[in-house]
Amino acid sequence: MVNGVVRPPGDKSISHRVVMLAALARGKSELTGLLTGDDVKSSARVLRQLGANISRIQESGVRISGSRLTAPGSRLNCGNSGTSARLMLGILAGQRFAATLTGDASLRRRPMRRVTEPLKQMGAHIEERGDGLPLTIRGGKLRGLTYTSPVASAQVKSALLFAGLTGRVPVTIREPYRSRDHTERLFAHLGLEIHERDGAIRYQPSAVRIPSFQIAVPGDPSSAAFLVGAAVLAATSELVIENVGVNPTRTGFIVVLERMGAHVERVNLRDEGGEPVADLVVRPANLRSTEVTAAEIPTLVDEVPVLAALASRARGTTVFHEVGELRVKESNRLELIAANLRAVGVKAEVQDNDLHVEGTDKPPRGNVETAKDHRLAMAFAVLGTVSGAKVQLSEKKSVAISYPGFFRDLKRIRADVQT
Ligand code: S3P
Repeated sequence: MVNGVVRPPGDKSISHRVVMLAALARGKSELTGLLTGDDVKSSARVLRQLGANISRIQESGVRISGSRLTAPGSRLNCGNSGTSARLMLGILAGQRFAATLTGDASLRRRPMRRVTEPLKQMGAHIEERGDGLPLTIRGGKLRGLTYTSPVASAQVKSALLFAGLTGRVPVTIREPYRSRDHTERLFAHLGLEIHERDGAIRYQPSAVRIPSFQIAVPGDPSSAAFLVGAAVLAATSELVIENVGVNPTRTGFIVVLERMGAHVERVNLRDEGGEPVADLVVRPANLRSTEVTAAEIPTLVDEVPVLAALASRARGTTVFHEVGELRVKESNRLELIAANLRAVGVKAEVQDNDLHVEGTDKPPRGNVETAKDHRLAMAFAVLGTVSGAKVQLSEKKSVAISYPGFFRDLKRIRADVQT
């Protein structure tokens, strides 16, 4: 047996949030373990345009001097990053100047009203042409908000909490299912007043600005999920994935994989800046199908592509319930997961908002259209590790969004983990 050891890159969601909070804080902050992917660079670029002093984005350490944000000289381009666009809208809602946000073709197609509607209720002025970017926001004096979001979205929730923070007004949010809670944890870690009661998140503003801080960002469970997938599909061996965030609002994929018969052990559990972190030990498994419930989806929303790829190797038909949100991710992930699984010889279909995947023993073979969506590229690359597989990806570069070293790591663990 060979023992592979690998470390996933920094958590994308947490990286965005700490860069933004450090830019709003008073004084110099020091961040380590940040994701160096393109999405985090988009947040940093936009914040620099707003006057923040941010050193080069590197894993070993980034220094950020917070300051009052100032009007940008040009449009704020959020690239491919929905998190940058939506969270920045919240931050900009509390600023007394106008800014225009835009992004790449994929981001310009993604819905923004889920954020702009409640921000307008708070008093932000927003000029939009449709349900997307580009749009211009002029913030200013806000009023408090009590809001029930129709979607379980951490981006919506976080945008409103950031608006409460910069506009210094109270915000109460309810969502249909609990989405990732990194913003809440970071607010609490920085001493801000945030509480959850009866499913409602309440933020109460205080007069003082956030103090500068030092934080180590844990590894991204969403990136680790691809490594877990490759280890589960391997014929023998054991993979250790070090330093992975195991916040329960993010680890639904482990719950589902265990139900499917895999064993993902958490060892060396610790706390890092208010987030639980562990090393994962993964062994190969014979998988069986399962039903993934609507309530579980927010805890594994970015892992549906890799879970669907794994479901195609399981005995029986796996159903992912209520995954309509995947239509408005970096691509129409829902249709593309099904179409690409079919393209490699798997029976898969979308019925209303549910995804059905029938497992097979046949090796996957065919061409995959990633639509430049990083998670589709990585999910099908993992499926391509199955013995006898021949999976051709339309491109590989998109992995730079969230996991720049993905193909290097996959190659290395395949050399370590016997397939
Ligand atoms: C994210 C929230 C999720 C997720 C995205 C990152 C975040 O999006 O899909 O990759 O950092 O808040 P939604 O909030 O739209 O579900």
